[in-house]
Amino acid sequence: MAEREESVLRLRVQDEEEKREIRELLALCAGDFVPPLTQRSSTTQQSWEQGSGDGVALYAEALLQQSVLLWKQDGKTVGLLSFRPEYVCEALPGQPTVFYLSTLCVSPACRGQGLARRIYEAVLAFARETLPERPVVLRTWSTNAPQLRLMARLGFAEIFRLPDDRGPGVDTVYYRLAPR
Ligand SMILES: CC(C)(COP(=O)(O)OP(=O)(O)OC[C@H]1O[C@@H](n2cnc3c(N)ncnc32)[C@H](O)[C@@H]1OP(=O)(O)O)[C@@H](O)C(=O)NCCC(=O)NCCS
Repeated sequence: MAEREESVLRLRVQDEEEKREIRELLALCAGDFVPPLTQRSSTTQQSWEQGSGDGVALYAEALLQQSVLLWKQDGKTVGLLSFRPEYVCEALPGQPTVFYLSTLCVSPACRGQGLARRIYEAVLAFARETLPERPVVLRTWSTNAPQLRLMARLGFAEIFRLPDDRGPGVDTVYYRLAPR
């Protein structure tokens, strides 16, 4: 168990050591995403064509243009959630401006301890405080079991689905946090 645990919210990551830890964490988790981060080019890309991306490095640079909540254990980043408080979501009908939750990732060694839930809760508290009227939206893939459990537990509801978007039987699914 970690002795010291903290979350820090960065509107932009400035610290070089934190940037390095973020790149490292993404590289460690790259294969757990569908499609893998090695095949991607940005956090919001619309086409999943094989090989269209330039890999983790480019994905990490796109993530570093966003805000991010870092979860640290004993001073080291073991989880993150990037987000865009003001994002025009072109994939959704009406292209609404949303508080968009982007990349969530927890170090494999630290999974199954409720960190992802606590990370979401921290960013949702920030969204409530700063932009209480703005819809909170995210997307994931339909076979991501831990993520789907989190959505149900945190009060998100499915709002839009792109069938077979990421391959046969793997849909892209958009969720919105139910308004209070
Ligand atoms: C998704 C991810 C962030 C979950 O992190 P975590 O800290 O292990 O999640 P938690 O411990 O908060 O668990 C979340 C829920 O998923 C469940 N869960 C965890 N691992 C699971 C698994 N392999 N299969 C099914 N359910 C699982 C937990 O029981 C929990 O549900 P509960 O609260 O109803 O008990 C982590 O698996 C990850 O980094 N995956 C790779 C990247 C990814 O998929 N990101 C999300 C899309 S951007």
